Amino acid sequence: MVVLRGEILVRVLLDNISKFFGKVKAVSDLNLEIKDGEFVAFLGPSGCGKTTTLLMIAGIYKPSKGRILFDDEDVTDLPPKDRNVGMVFQSYALYPHMTVYDNIAFPLKLKKVPKQEIDRKVKEVAKLLQIDELLDRKPAQLSGGQRQRVALGRALVKEPDVLLLDEPLSNLDAKLRILMRAEIKRLQRELRITTIYVTHDQVEAMSMADRIAVMNKGRLQQYADPQTLYNKPANLFVAGFIGSPPMNLIEGSITERNGSYYFETHSFKYALPRDIGSLVASKTSEVILGVRPEDIRVIIDGRGSSDSAIIGTVYVVEPLGRDLLINVKINGVLIKILAPTDIRLESGQKIMFTINRAKLHIFDKKTGEAII
Ligand SMILES: Nc1ncnc2c1ncn2[C@@H]1O[C@H](COP(=O)(O)OP(=O)(O)OP(=O)(O)O)[C@@H](O)[C@H]1O
Ligand SMILES: [Mg+2]
Repeated sequence: MVVLRGEILVRVLLDNISKFFGKVKAVSDLNLEIKDGEFVAFLGPSGCGKTTTLLMIAGIYKPSKGRILFDDEDVTDLPPKDRNVGMVFQSYALYPHMTVYDNIAFPLKLKKVPKQEIDRKVKEVAKLLQIDELLDRKPAQLSGGQRQRVALGRALVKEPDVLLLDEPLSNLDAKLRILMRAEIKRLQRELRITTIYVTHDQVEAMSMADRIAVMNKGRLQQYADPQTLYNKPANLFVAGFIGSPPMNLIEGSITERNGSYYFETHSFKYALPRDIGSLVASKTSEVILGVRPEDIRVIIDGRGSSDSAIIGTVYVVEPLGRDLLINVKINGVLIKILAPTDIRLESGQKIMFTINRAKLHIFDKKTGEAII
């Protein structure tokens, strides 16, 4: 690969940055390290501060507080053109009157790169992105996926130290999104450019990124690899945001009787393993119990029954193709269970189920922090 310098990788450090727009705290006290060559996703609901953070890294916004470092260089006060970042905006922002070739060449023309070199680089990037047949067309003559590649080409042609992508796939249809997801990941692996990818789609973040920064209301909630986020959510927000169908979150309290610990709600009582029970009880009694739908097992004909089994009533069954999503009610508390499709169930039927104790989550109701 001639276009990209490959081995020169840049680390990005966000050192306690905040961004305020008047009274709006768009981003608060964000500390994050994106390692050189790493693919990091910013994930969170609309308005949580993802784009604002990206624009601070690009230099388009200046942080109200804090510093941004590329490797050991403080770039906080550097304008965008001196940062060598490539950015793809959600809207692509292609120039409609220019051809694909001129769109991709544009950043190099601005930098007054010699014409021959521009030509070589544009063609190389176009080939990499498989749009070399389209160089003479205007954006209006392209499909959504092709436009997206052109925008990516324009960002890559500068040989950026850091690649910033703001929801680049949100304008594409579902099938193309899945295709481009894999393409972008493969490209990032090949080029190894430090990449930050903004999305509100957890599947996109989980499937592409090395690490994910989950944000909510301008604050970082957890920064970890996809598996850790899924298995060990640090708080209620992450637990509820990651996973589909989402984790069951049930409010209740921890009680103790004769050395045995229980999770109790107004509608049912669940025996906890002693070590877990005593640990949680030592911290708080008001908790939220979390369990993913796939970590609950329906007991059929009493097989594998245990004293910690819970009895409920089938509310409704949703066939999802590969699994069944069973909605069970226990005196008003709704629990979702993923089960194999060969189970036959009717609404109103009583069923018994057990929770995989190794996959149990308990959160402090007051702080939302995970206790186990
Ligand atoms: N220029 C601005 N002036 C005032 N408030 C702003 C400005 N830009 C963003 N905000 C506010 O800052 C917060 C974060 O906005 P931001 O665009 O970073 O969210 P986001 O996570 O990218 O959301 P989305 O997924 O909808 O794109 C929001 O409350 C938004 O209304
Ligand atoms: Mg945004």
